[in-house]
Amino acid sequence: MAATLIARAIRARPEAVIGLATGSTPTRCYGELVRLHREEGLSFAGVRTFNLDEYLGLPGDHGQGYRRFMQEQLFERIDIRPWNTHVLDGMARDTGAECAAFEHRIAAVGGVDLWLLGIGANGHIAFNEPGSAADSRTRVVDLSAETIAANSDGRFFKDPAEVPRQALTAGIATIRAARRIVLLATGAGKRAALRTAVEGPSTESCPASLLQGHPDCLFLADREAWGA
Ligand code: PGA
Repeated sequence: MAATLIARAIRARPEAVIGLATGSTPTRCYGELVRLHREEGLSFAGVRTFNLDEYLGLPGDHGQGYRRFMQEQLFERIDIRPWNTHVLDGMARDTGAECAAFEHRIAAVGGVDLWLLGIGANGHIAFNEPGSAADSRTRVVDLSAETIAANSDGRFFKDPAEVPRQALTAGIATIRAARRIVLLATGAGKRAALRTAVEGPSTESCPASLLQGHPDCLFLADREAWGA
């Protein structure tokens, strides 16, 4: 469904600006976008993309870097123009300038039409960990112990010691500025975070709950994640 919504946005506006996420959750959505490109003529030739986040200190071509992830999962398999894909540079010397340039580029293309998100088991969105301010913008953040553990369970890194301690991330306000938000959640490990985000108060202790009140925000969950 997420791929269908993204495809619809691109067909409505071939120069659509799409926000993307990494992690285990969106990989099937990217697989379906590749299929739509190959079999149903969906063209990304005019599309601009912005990714949520990147580890600090990992070169873009590092095996666990998010630039590499996006290249392999999506960008190299569709007709998107490389210069239209924006992933924060985890090796930037001046991280403040890198973050400011990211915000500037989003503004320069008129804002994000649809931002695809996952959710962390601790309720984070992008690398906005609990406590992130609702008005936060793209910046350097410290990763929480939960996130370091989740990303070193063998899916990505094998050892917590390998996981960078910091990252560059789009802020809550950066994400909330997207005209449409689609958050994906799969598996029982996300159930508590999802419930808190949807049914709890809107609070910085659960960053995904700060999406409440967005005029066009859709949460797509499987049965395990919703628990119904
Ligand atoms: P996951 O990560 O898709 O790998 O579960 C989601 C997230 O932490 O936002």
